[in-house]
Amino acid sequence: MPYFQDYPARTGDRTLFKMAHYLPLYDDLLAPLQGRDISFLEIGIYKGGSMPMWQGFFGQGARLTFLDIDPACQTLQLPGTRVEIGDQSDPAFLARISSEHGPFDLIVDDGGHKMHQQITSFRHLWPQLNDRGLYIVEDTHTSYWPGFGGGHRNPASFIEFAKDLIDQMHSWYTEDDAAFPLHPLAREIGGIRFHDSLVIIEKRLKEPPLSITATNGQATGSRKLLQVRGRKSIF
Ligand SMILES: C[S@@+](CC[C@H](N)C(=O)[O-])C[C@H]1O[C@@H](n2cnc3c(N)ncnc32)[C@H](O)[C@@H]1O
Repeated sequence: MPYFQDYPARTGDRTLFKMAHYLPLYDDLLAPLQGRDISFLEIGIYKGGSMPMWQGFFGQGARLTFLDIDPACQTLQLPGTRVEIGDQSDPAFLARISSEHGPFDLIVDDGGHKMHQQITSFRHLWPQLNDRGLYIVEDTHTSYWPGFGGGHRNPASFIEFAKDLIDQMHSWYTEDDAAFPLHPLAREIGGIRFHDSLVIIEKRLKEPPLSITATNGQATGSRKLLQVRGRKSIF
């Protein structure tokens, strides 16, 4: 039985608060991490129901950090986990968490879901994500809710911020340095997945893209695609 999909039936007295459709998706997406001693951070504890879920998935060797703004969450710490109390939109707090517990292989933002919270956390925690790590932002439907600082096509929303990440990931293909300059995230973002209410950003440190041609088992590589656009400076 898939671990996450089946998990609600195995919960104890701590309430888990997730959207149902995340669970089969996490089974598909996170399967390579099951049982691995990874470094993990979740923003948002609430009743602590996700803590045993993540611990059971990764195992006792994983380093698990959970943070919440509510001091009452401190009592929910489980053996083998760390609970930190603070505001996910406070850069000084995020810097302390990062220096004490980072870097991380997986970060899940299930905190306050307001635009400035999601964006500030991403900006300050992305540099703390290891190569090949995943940054998951849950409940991104709040990007469409004015009460959370969002609204359809509101440039301040997290969804619009994430759409900009798509451009930044591709920014080394630009010919227009003035309007669309090369962004450092071109070297860091491997992919971005948009699901209903979830945005998942994969870190993959990379060189400028190489085209290959292969014939009879012989491969040759070229960066001509970028050279013809005058992008030699980024090699
Ligand atoms: C949806 S609940 C978390 C649910 C939990 N991750 C689970 O899966 O069961 C959201 C939590 O985010 C916390 N929160 C709200 N604003 C926050 C902020 N600015 N910084 C950190 N945590 C915040 C709330 O106190 C609440 O406990």
